[in-house]
Amino acid sequence: QANTRESLYLVSEFANAYFQRILHKTDQGQAIGLSYFKERGFTNETIKTFDLGYSLDEWQAFTDEALKQGYSIEYLEKTGLTIVKETKRFDRFKGRVMFPIKSMSGRVLGFGGRILINDKKAAKYLNSPESDIYHKSKVLYGIYHAKQSISKEDNCYLVEGYTDVIQFYQTGIKNVVSSSGTALTSDQIRLINRLTKNITVLFDGDAAGMRASLRGVDLILEQGMDVKVCSFPEGEDPDSFARKNTLEELKLYLETNAKDFIQFKASVLFEDSKNDPIKKADTVRDIVNSISKIPDRIKKEIYIQECARIMDISEEVLFSTLAQIDKKEV
Ligand code: CTP
Ligand code: MN
Ligand code: MN
Ligand code: MN
Ligand code: MN
Repeated sequence: QANTRESLYLVSEFANAYFQRILHKTDQGQAIGLSYFKERGFTNETIKTFDLGYSLDEWQAFTDEALKQGYSIEYLEKTGLTIVKETKRFDRFKGRVMFPIKSMSGRVLGFGGRILINDKKAAKYLNSPESDIYHKSKVLYGIYHAKQSISKEDNCYLVEGYTDVIQFYQTGIKNVVSSSGTALTSDQIRLINRLTKNITVLFDGDAAGMRASLRGVDLILEQGMDVKVCSFPEGEDPDSFARKNTLEELKLYLETNAKDFIQFKASVLFEDSKNDPIKKADTVRDIVNSISKIPDRIKKEIYIQECARIMDISEEVLFSTLAQIDKKEV
């Protein structure tokens, strides 16, 4: 329903302005929210560019203000910004720094809110629920700010989180987006595919996360895109690494460490399984399965040859495995 959607956009736009006003113009916002962003190394310009904000640590400060300004409770609830329980109304976001999530054209769709002190009881990030305007599987955080340089650089960096996007952008690498903690979807990849055929996936520097992300990459191959991957030193993520390095150092690191995805996956899996024949068999199927997603037949053939070399197995076996997989899929 077009009317509902338009109303949800208006409420979200109001909330975006409100959270920024709280951050910049109130004592609590400045003392807690703004100092938090400053401690993370974000400049005023960056804070403004990404419309970062703060939600007061009160039960219904936002909801009260929105109602006072004439926004209806129906739409406040539909965006998830207000939680309605019987006759009571609560703000979803309380005492969090706020990251608005924007569409390709810059409209505010929803928010991520981060608690300030890491505490095991509360989720570090709280996100807007799905609504008529916010479908988390169809948006990429940062796409509005990144789209021009994704086209210009003909490459897109894909990172895990909000702060990775922001820190990269501030350092000077603007072609960067994040799937914000959810597993990458085909719809998200299509947004990038319109702008470039090249994706570089950047992993947080922990082995578990890296192995988990390897799986999602097949969806990128399926769309005929070329994929590179790059990991960071143990304990670092793109945000912390970018903070410690200059733009030149960061660029050099990415150029030096970005590896072709298939080659990277083949070597990681080979290392994992080289002393275990049964595991190695699974591994071979896993890598051939990735290769089978690539639409281009010439690339497929080249990758089979490469992987045979990396995994120390015959090309014939890989080709026949590929044929089996292709057969199952028709
Ligand atoms: N995330 C989430 N909910 C959580 C934890 C994470 O939605 N409880 C999403 C966020 O979008 C987050 C991303 O997953 O940015 C990556 O998670 P993580 O690496 O843990 O967070 P960072 O982005 O590194 O956050 P920070 O540096 O603020 O700790
Ligand atoms: Mn702005
Ligand atoms: Mn992580
Ligand atoms: Mn991280
Ligand atoms: Mn981080």
